[in-house]
Amino acid sequence: MARLKVAVLISGRGSNLAALIAACAAADFPAAVALVLSNRADAAGLAHAARAGIPCRVIAHRDFATREAFDEALDLALRADGIELVCLAGFMRLLGADFVTRWRDRLINIHPSLLPAFPGLGTHARALAAGVRFAGCTVHFVRPAMDEGPIIVQAAVPVLPGDDEARLAARVLAAEHRSYPLAVRLIAEGRVRVADERVEIDGAAGQMPVVLNPPDSA
Ligand code: GRF
Repeated sequence: MARLKVAVLISGRGSNLAALIAACAAADFPAAVALVLSNRADAAGLAHAARAGIPCRVIAHRDFATREAFDEALDLALRADGIELVCLAGFMRLLGADFVTRWRDRLINIHPSLLPAFPGLGTHARALAAGVRFAGCTVHFVRPAMDEGPIIVQAAVPVLPGDDEARLAARVLAAEHRSYPLAVRLIAEGRVRVADERVEIDGAAGQMPVVLNPPDSA
């Protein structure tokens, strides 16, 4: 089985990277993390790649005079390794429109909210302040505008009494660790199409329960 060659771009902790590496360890997973890139040499997540024997490279944005030059260096590294899908996983640099266009529909991101609600930073605090009863995460194709683009996978988690940012973030993060491997698998299986800026997924029409928060037994 030829596995889809995936690169993961990180800036920090790398728990989503770790989840992707773990998923790819299964013999029948149709993708492989072939390269990890970080814009920060001190990104803790680099250790996950090192432990798994995955090639890592640090391309420090500070070493480049312009955003375009940085993006170009990323692009060169990705192409040199024959990367077919790029996963942003806590990558804290905005990529320019040229890069995003070049990698259109081969570049995905995970965001810790149910987009289009709460794009940008501080999502959990804003969700709590808004009083929403569900939070969640979104895996989407990247477009030039931040946290926008066709949605591939979403996971919903309840907001519970007594939640603070840390508790909610932890619940959402556990959902992220299931959502990102699922999105990569669906893409690698060739089941994901973008039509009219919406995602269609072959064979994903299963029934799902309606979940109420609070439960109607309350
Ligand atoms: C995640 O919450 C992700 O959704 C957001 O940044 C965070 C990265 O966490 N884009 P990690 O580095 O994968 O642990």
